[in-house]
Amino acid sequence: MSDTVSAFLRLTQDADDALLLQMLTEEPEDDTALYAAADAVRRKWYGDAVFLRGLIEFTNYCKNDCYYCGIRHGNTRAQRYRLTADEILECAAEGYALGYRTFVLQGGEDPYFTDDRLCEIVAALHRNYPDCAVTLSVGEKPKESYQAYFDAGAKRYLLRHETADEAHYRRLHPDSMSLENRRRCLFDLKAIGYQVGSGFMIGSPYQTPECLLSDFRFLQQLSPDMIGVGPYLTHPDTPFAGQPSGSLKRGLRILSMLRLLFPKALIPATTAFGTIAPNGRELALRAGANVVMPNLSPVRVRKLYALYENKICTGEEAAECRGCLERRIASAGYQAVTSVGDPAGSAG
Ligand code: SAM
Ligand code: FES
Repeated sequence: MSDTVSAFLRLTQDADDALLLQMLTEEPEDDTALYAAADAVRRKWYGDAVFLRGLIEFTNYCKNDCYYCGIRHGNTRAQRYRLTADEILECAAEGYALGYRTFVLQGGEDPYFTDDRLCEIVAALHRNYPDCAVTLSVGEKPKESYQAYFDAGAKRYLLRHETADEAHYRRLHPDSMSLENRRRCLFDLKAIGYQVGSGFMIGSPYQTPECLLSDFRFLQQLSPDMIGVGPYLTHPDTPFAGQPSGSLKRGLRILSMLRLLFPKALIPATTAFGTIAPNGRELALRAGANVVMPNLSPVRVRKLYALYENKICTGEEAAECRGCLERRIASAGYQAVTSVGDPAGSAG
């Protein structure tokens, strides 16, 4: 093992602010030693396994107005859709037949999906597929709602904190939203017993190395099971239309740092990585990621779940998506695994 790889392997949870800030500020020409160190750590805990999670984007209605997001309430150009409960169950049936054992229901904060409606859907999935894990990603809710979804059978929840820096949070969101509530949600989810995923965009407008340091420290405090990151990508019909997208290189660097700091975390090679570069997800896997989330949504709605411009995988049927992803995972040197895929322990 090269000296530089061994040096990076010493980057642990105990790393001090100065070292982390230095690494978050530097933009070296070549980060391959960092990726190799991150890959060594992921292989220690997970071998070459890449977990597949079937993603169902079931509504693009959203009552919120995050400045970066293409499905924000204020985007009057967005064509809205929501799937019926039957359609969601059909997506899951197709996913199950393809071998997926985790379903992720993700959507905007859509008031149509009341707690009762969501609980019915979660309970039906749980009843039909007792051998599968149901994950929800439907935003900020009161603790009682999270408890009701949990009791109905959802055991995992994805909610990115977006940024742990108060001033940065204010620049990304309108006053109706707060970092305090986002944090409250995440700690409520943990207290209920969910496996929790959090994370942030890399290169979002006004993000500084200090913001990223706060993100790392916040994640250390939360100790989530999954950490979802990906480059920020501009959507033309948002207040941030004039802001540049994040970069692949910076995204990979931060993903590798996260793998070193959180050796056992589940870290997805997100669609945003695949959108910023054709082989972006493969590169993310080689930089420390160990999850991919193939899209199970019906093809007719795929393009409409447009968080950002040029989102990939909007034209393929679920089966094609599965084949494509398996080939990509194999080409990167890993093996797709469809099991429930629990984390190797706490993400710490
Ligand atoms: N409403 C749920 C929530 O807030 O967690 C789930 C849906 S939300 C659209 C999913 C994630 O998409 C957000 O957490 C955000 O990090 C990401 N996202 C939104 N706009 C984005 C953009 N322009 N570029 C990259 N990621 C974006
Ligand atoms: Fe969906 Fe390639 S991952 S088409």
